[in-house]
Amino acid sequence: MNAAHTVASPRVVCIEDFRPIARRRLPRAVFDYLDGGAEGEVTLRENCRAFQDVTFRPRHAVALGKCDLSVRVLGFDLALPFLLAPVGYSRLMHPGGEVAAARAAGAAGTGYILSTISGHKLEDVKAASSGPVFYQLYLMGGRGASEAAIDRARAAGFSALVVTIDTAVAGIRERDYRNGMKELISGGVFEKIPYIPEMLKHPGWLVSYLRDGGLPGLPNVIIPGKGQMPLVDINAALAAAAVTWADLRWIREHWKGPIVVKGVLTGDDGRRAVDEGAAAISVSNHGGRQLDCVPASVRALPEVVKAVNGQVEVLMDGGVRRGTDVVKAICMGARAVLCGRAYAYGLAAAGEAGVTRAIEILRTDVERTLRLLGCPSIAALNGSYVKVPAAWD
Ligand SMILES: Cc1cc2nc3c(=O)[nH]c(=O)nc-3n(C[C@H](O)[C@H](O)[C@H](O)COP(=O)(O)O)c2cc1C
Repeated sequence: MNAAHTVASPRVVCIEDFRPIARRRLPRAVFDYLDGGAEGEVTLRENCRAFQDVTFRPRHAVALGKCDLSVRVLGFDLALPFLLAPVGYSRLMHPGGEVAAARAAGAAGTGYILSTISGHKLEDVKAASSGPVFYQLYLMGGRGASEAAIDRARAAGFSALVVTIDTAVAGIRERDYRNGMKELISGGVFEKIPYIPEMLKHPGWLVSYLRDGGLPGLPNVIIPGKGQMPLVDINAALAAAAVTWADLRWIREHWKGPIVVKGVLTGDDGRRAVDEGAAAISVSNHGGRQLDCVPASVRALPEVVKAVNGQVEVLMDGGVRRGTDVVKAICMGARAVLCGRAYAYGLAAAGEAGVTRAIEILRTDVERTLRLLGCPSIAALNGSYVKVPAAWD
């Protein structure tokens, strides 16, 4: 059975069911890059676990007609209350990568956020989607390269810029070191040799990877006068690309459109983002991949929602694996959520078909949750449908 058939199987019931399929298809280095987090992975685990501390307060015996799952994010009407988060190196997981994910998002009526670390050209990604597409900016390659990317994103029709602020340096993802992710991405032939047997164990992935031309480059990071930035040491490149609030000012002046600040975990940073002119923020710890032992995103959400007091749209990401997670975050004040691994497992398992199936699972989950809560629409959700631990306020 091929991967697309596997994910269509009725036995794939929830997002977690994609994980073993992705694990079988990918070499360990690529799977762990997707699955893993920083250091002891405390925040990675906590992102998912903390949702369990929020419980529902349903209204039973309520007659409901059609459930309305739509939301408005940055002026765009989305059919679903979740968007697809930026996931770097998606093309390493599946040749379709960013193009496949954007197409699936658009077909489902929702938005897609393209990472700077994309193996596909931003123009191709935008063209693939019938929905809004946002560009996530790392200042990789310096200011000139970033301005060139911003200009291309504007010309291609990207609707918003997402500036990720939690990557002062790359978090240490220990699995990546053990598995030779660096050697796979940037090493020479000799450095790759110890990892070849593991790749040979995954012939399906290997054949598609080689047919796709091998390691994808970074076609959206073009350094003026030098050309495409080579895929050297991505950790060093990220450290050199650390963004500050002062950068946000010139980014805003250059872009002129709406900006989402991604990586807010405290009320103070939330207010700072408001002051710096953000149109939206995402309460996020980068999926537990940066500083370990920061709180779960959902745990940080109430403080940030309170601090920004409705002045910007609040999104959140981290640990969303079920429709109940989406609904809880919205009850707690998020306008919509971003899903990272939830769709990336699907992409890794079966390309576009896997992303489509992951979105569909989350969509039916959200609708079922609304009906069981006795709530007719996402717009009607509020804090009265959940009980949040008192200590979280
Ligand atoms: C494999 C992988 C790569 C990621 N790459 C980026 C990136 O390039 N830029 C970024 O802002 N966030 C990146 N993220 C973080 C996601 O955008 C998002 O914050 C995170 O995945 C949310 O947590 P979740 O995976 O539990 O949904 C990445 C996450 C994963 C899993």
